Amino acid sequence: MNTTDPTITRFEPGAPTGEEGIPLCVPEIRGNEWRYIKECLDTNWVSSVGPFVDRFEQTFAAYTHTKYAVAAVNGTAALHIALLTAGVQPDDEVLVSTLTFIAPVNAIRYVNAWPVLIDVEPTYWQMNPQRVSDFLDKQCHWRDSALYNKTTGRRIRAILPVHILGHPVDMDAIVSIARKYNLMIIEDATESLGAKYKGQMVGQLGDIACFSFNGNKIITTGGGGMITTDNKAWAERAKYLTTQAKADPLEYIHDEIGYNYRLTNVLAAIGVAQMEQLDAYIATKRQIADTYNQALQDIPGLTQQPEAEWAFSIKWLYTILVDETQYGMDSRALLQKLAYKQIQTRPLWQPIHQSKAYVNCQVCGGEVATWLNRHALSLPCSVGITQKQLSKVIETLIRNE
Ligand SMILES: Cc1ncc(COP(=O)(O)O)c(C=O)c1O
Repeated sequence: MNTTDPTITRFEPGAPTGEEGIPLCVPEIRGNEWRYIKECLDTNWVSSVGPFVDRFEQTFAAYTHTKYAVAAVNGTAALHIALLTAGVQPDDEVLVSTLTFIAPVNAIRYVNAWPVLIDVEPTYWQMNPQRVSDFLDKQCHWRDSALYNKTTGRRIRAILPVHILGHPVDMDAIVSIARKYNLMIIEDATESLGAKYKGQMVGQLGDIACFSFNGNKIITTGGGGMITTDNKAWAERAKYLTTQAKADPLEYIHDEIGYNYRLTNVLAAIGVAQMEQLDAYIATKRQIADTYNQALQDIPGLTQQPEAEWAFSIKWLYTILVDETQYGMDSRALLQKLAYKQIQTRPLWQPIHQSKAYVNCQVCGGEVATWLNRHALSLPCSVGITQKQLSKVIETLIRNE
């Protein structure tokens, strides 16, 4: 078998797989989605306001134990608005993990601020609080009661931890650092709805947080996002900014530049239906992870992303490390081998400090992210994956041919 046949790389991540294919992570639509969408169409509430938008926001706030939730057109827009709402100014700096999907870093640039890229810790692969603390301690200084980066001269305004792959960041450490240096915390919880840190839901651990409902997330609205906060004034500001900064709805008075970032009622209807199934989805994701974990015990060279004892991970994307010397092939060769069997997998993102768009940004460390990028592979773990499909993936992992 020629597993390096270049044609099999056309098995694109995210693309639909064939009949026999096993996709990486696809939506599960099996609840009230159709009924609620029909309700929107029957009542003519299809656009950016409507009862399902309100219901989605209220349900979401209750679920994440936050006071307010504001729906947005996607997670990136939610991050953009969260940064504006938190008062991040042009030329400020925001500390963000270098091992993440690129969206939060792009959002920092949308507000004309700059990312300082922080390496992840090697155990759970999340933003490394020690790196954050070292950077602030050694490479920044106080001037007029504000903290400035000695190298760039820019003001440090916020920390943006990203809870990657369904597992939370060590937030106690981040919160105490943020308090010490008087910095905002903007949580990117897009991949981790339902995850808990020491029993507390992500999305309520900082000053403001963002979620995504794109197609591969734990729940989906096709595309969508949410901002959560306990700050009433911020929630109102977030809603205002996502609604073209409309100050007077009758006279169409706009006091500042706003954005058309509201989620439609039709998509919110899908969101409400998906929220009804969220706990069941998380339970299934954790079962899938248990099945893989059991199997990996007998496969030398493959290990799973560990779960901290203080964490409840939703196991959004089940991800393994491939040790080439023990397993006999590296992560990319394994990706090819699985692709040949129509099994879709995905490496972790290129670390942001290696991305052309951000190569000139300041980075603290980066070696761990680079190493993880080379060794990690996410395996199929859709909520709807069948036992037969799981067995096929495991069988293919075991048969090291
Ligand atoms: C870590 C992270 N942040 C932000 C986003 C952006 O969300 P969206 O695709 O809804 O804009 C995503 C996912 O797509 C993500 O994985």
